[in-house]
Amino acid sequence: MCGIVGYVGKNNPIESLIDGLKKLEYRGYDSSGIAIKGNNNIQIIKSTGRIIELEDKIKETKLIKSNLGIAHTRWATHGEANEINAHPHKVGKVTLVHNGIIENARDLKNKLVNEGIVFRSETDTEVAAAVINAYYKGNPIQAITKAIKQLKGSFAFGLIFEDQDKLYAVRKDSPLIVGIGEDENFIASDIAAIIKYTDKYMLLDDNEVVELSKNEVNVYKDGEKIDKKVETSNISIEDANKGSYKHFMLKEIMEEPIVLQRTLNKYLKKPSKLFDVSDYEEIHIVACGSALYAGMVGRVLLEEKANIRCITECASEYRYKKVIYDRKTLVILVSQSGETADTIAAMRKAHEEGIDTLAIVNVTTSTIAREAKNSIFIEAGPEIAVATTKAYLLQVAMFSLIALNTAKSKELEKNYEKIVDEGKHISKYLNKILKDKDIFKEVGKELKNCKDAFYIGRGIDYAICKEGSLKLKEVSYTHSDAYEAGELKHGTISLIEDDMPVIAVITDEKIKDKTESNVIEVEARAAKIFTITNDDSIKNHHFKYVVEKISDYFQPILIVPPLQLIGYYTADSRNLDIDKPRNLAKSVTVE
Ligand code: G6P
Repeated sequence: MCGIVGYVGKNNPIESLIDGLKKLEYRGYDSSGIAIKGNNNIQIIKSTGRIIELEDKIKETKLIKSNLGIAHTRWATHGEANEINAHPHKVGKVTLVHNGIIENARDLKNKLVNEGIVFRSETDTEVAAAVINAYYKGNPIQAITKAIKQLKGSFAFGLIFEDQDKLYAVRKDSPLIVGIGEDENFIASDIAAIIKYTDKYMLLDDNEVVELSKNEVNVYKDGEKIDKKVETSNISIEDANKGSYKHFMLKEIMEEPIVLQRTLNKYLKKPSKLFDVSDYEEIHIVACGSALYAGMVGRVLLEEKANIRCITECASEYRYKKVIYDRKTLVILVSQSGETADTIAAMRKAHEEGIDTLAIVNVTTSTIAREAKNSIFIEAGPEIAVATTKAYLLQVAMFSLIALNTAKSKELEKNYEKIVDEGKHISKYLNKILKDKDIFKEVGKELKNCKDAFYIGRGIDYAICKEGSLKLKEVSYTHSDAYEAGELKHGTISLIEDDMPVIAVITDEKIKDKTESNVIEVEARAAKIFTITNDDSIKNHHFKYVVEKISDYFQPILIVPPLQLIGYYTADSRNLDIDKPRNLAKSVTVE
């Protein structure tokens, strides 16, 4: 939540700060602000709404001469999204932007108020600024190092000091990278924000403080200077741009065949030991949002194909519940960003109990990627749209490989070679579905005015329905729910009204007749049935789309794009801000 960018260097900072904020808008977009430093003064400009509104305000403002600045795009946690609460916050000589949550902000604030400090905003960030300012006696590294010892929770801070010409930053449990340019240096919440300027970056570990000037970057731990490795990013400028697509979400769906085949081929050619979990008696799949739903598909595959005991649990529950680890257990964490606070906490809980962890993650530099015992990287490339698409698809695909390799190792899969071969050509089926995207555009138009929708399926189809329903809900604001097809009649069927869309997913051979019966039950109550299936013989009630029938391991992958396209085009028919749905953020780095 919240995006940070900072600049120090040869140029005026405004252009790169605004550029960076636009790339980080997926992290929060209810208000934004910048602070730039002149000779001995700091100019702060803030605005509610999108970055474009901040940009307009900056254009109307007479700016001071500067080559140092910090900027922030906010997803509000402490205090509503207004200009006062927007970052940067300035207390005394310290101005800062923050991503994360200071959990002991209330206690610290009470103490500081008693000491006479007056706070203007409701934010925890202003409290952090006040704590750092209280320690500041002319040495920023010292002040930051001392202050962060007082702060509980998570933070990535970008800081400027009124009487210093350098940029400072520090992080703990929130992402922040340092960009190394030529005669200019940066900080940012992710590399995509600054890739236009540099592909060289440094990763900061928890509590490391960085000091940046035009030509120098120094990192300190506990006040002592330390060496850090400079890495080169492989993301391209195109990855961070929409190209000719109307939205990132559509661009990212259309990238699915390429990223899927690239990742599958890599792991199919040289299967890693990580895909064989046969050593474990029980698997816990823990994640949030779509990543959890990918895990639900994984659970069915692991149980059915690899005969392995498996549970799925959302990370926000798992981290606090009593978990009985009485068998040899592996915790699989699924996360696109690798920064989701609850998933990180669940991982650390498992580690504290001495339990092995395996992460399925996209961002290789993330906290989860760095801390998990082992990691499988999905290589989806940067995903900018808030609603995940290609990363979810790849997460599902990684579970296909885990189930397949575990089944092989347990001698439960006789057709291993054949299935591997199928996996090597799977993108041709995806390409065919994506070529049909206009079919789903028509579905989207049909759903334009619907207020409620249901998704039904059984077994693995139900797991996929959970994601289909979430996609429709989050981008088109349609109230929607996914049900186990047999469960709908236990109450929920009373909600079915004339023409209410019911999207039925039917691929699971052994229970398809049962799902078909449930479809007939809702059709009898005048629902409008949209069927996505791999079986052409299934009746077309109102709309039917048939995907190729392939092995059970990979079949779920082909159902994903049709459901994503239905969500996308429904939102598009309503002219919504698809890449940045209201109230959401892509990376939820707070509890
Ligand atoms: C947010 C996003 C979802 C995502 C979830 C988990 O809610 O909007 O699209 O699935 O976080 O994120 P992660 O980065 O851990 O996969």
